[in-house]
Amino acid sequence: MTETILKVEKLKKWFPITRGLLRSLFSRRELYVRAVDEIDFEIKEREIFGLVGESGSGKTTTGRMLVRLIEPTSGKILYRGKDIVSMSDEEFKPLRKKLQMIFQDPYESLNPKMTVFDILAEPLRVQNVAHGDEIYERVCKILEDVELTPPQEFLQRYPHELSGGQRQRVATGRALILNPEFIVADEPVSMLDVSIRAEVLNLMLQLSETHGIAFLYITHDLALARHLCDTIAVMYLGKIMELASADSLIKEPLHPYTKALLAAVPVPDPTSKRAEVTIKGEIPSPVNPPSGCRFHTRCPQFIGEICKKETPSLVEIGSHHYVACHLYR
Ligand SMILES: Nc1ncnc2c1ncn2[C@@H]1O[C@H](COP(=O)(O)OP(=O)(O)O)[C@@H](O)[C@H]1O
Ligand SMILES: [Mg+2]
Repeated sequence: MTETILKVEKLKKWFPITRGLLRSLFSRRELYVRAVDEIDFEIKEREIFGLVGESGSGKTTTGRMLVRLIEPTSGKILYRGKDIVSMSDEEFKPLRKKLQMIFQDPYESLNPKMTVFDILAEPLRVQNVAHGDEIYERVCKILEDVELTPPQEFLQRYPHELSGGQRQRVATGRALILNPEFIVADEPVSMLDVSIRAEVLNLMLQLSETHGIAFLYITHDLALARHLCDTIAVMYLGKIMELASADSLIKEPLHPYTKALLAAVPVPDPTSKRAEVTIKGEIPSPVNPPSGCRFHTRCPQFIGEICKKETPSLVEIGSHHYVACHLYR
């Protein structure tokens, strides 16, 4: 049996709106952006878990909470059974090594004033796990792992002297250098040139295998998630709409939202049961999300009042195939 590394229970993040136009228009009541609204899932050792959805659905916020860059409004994040939300910084510090993140924008995520050597050495120093020559050796080794070779050619370079792909390799190295068990990769190739995306992704995949790392892989691209991930969760306006193995999610999509996302995927697959549907309109505001099922305002399979009134919960339909939709009650 593979063990669960991370379990999320009723995880929620509502950002209070404290200033700006919206606030002044509705200033009599508290307003929140309901970025993540009570989600549950778990990630096993070595699993690549894809979190998919349109922009604004709450993926980045979820990823950041899992590595403790954002504090949840409520809910639990159990890392090997221990809730990291309620830990003090002191208690969390040894776990920082185990939980790492690769950010979407390689141009913003590396400190422009630091050399590649210092960027990679910093986690070792902060965590006090290596000294002197050992730091140098570990930095060179990790540069080799991320295929920036020979390492000596990169050690003294600054981020502005690197291409986007090279920066994302450095960021990958920084995430790997403390031997983590779990990495959140937030659309790590979406800002890279299309021609180099595949090689950077393959490198990450290969490293996750050789190092035995579990991933939360965030992407808006269902076609990509299908190839990369073991499990996929589809998110919409802060909620998980469907969760299943990548295979069954793609071949037997249940939720009208998943079907619509799949219909928009360009690669045709004769074996999948694809519905001819498209999503109408824009994604509504998470400040004032639709009542009941959040997708009801755009749903091509809307069945009536119940969709407006009751929020469907995520229930298991097939084996390990979960869906939150009134069609399946
Ligand atoms: N720090 C913040 N303060 C207020 N609202 C935020 C903040 N971060 C994200 N949001 C809002 O939360 C929602 C979800 O954002 P995000 O998690 O970035 O979604 P995704 O990564 O799926 O595009 C969006 O409406 C976004 O504008
Ligand atoms: Mg995002």
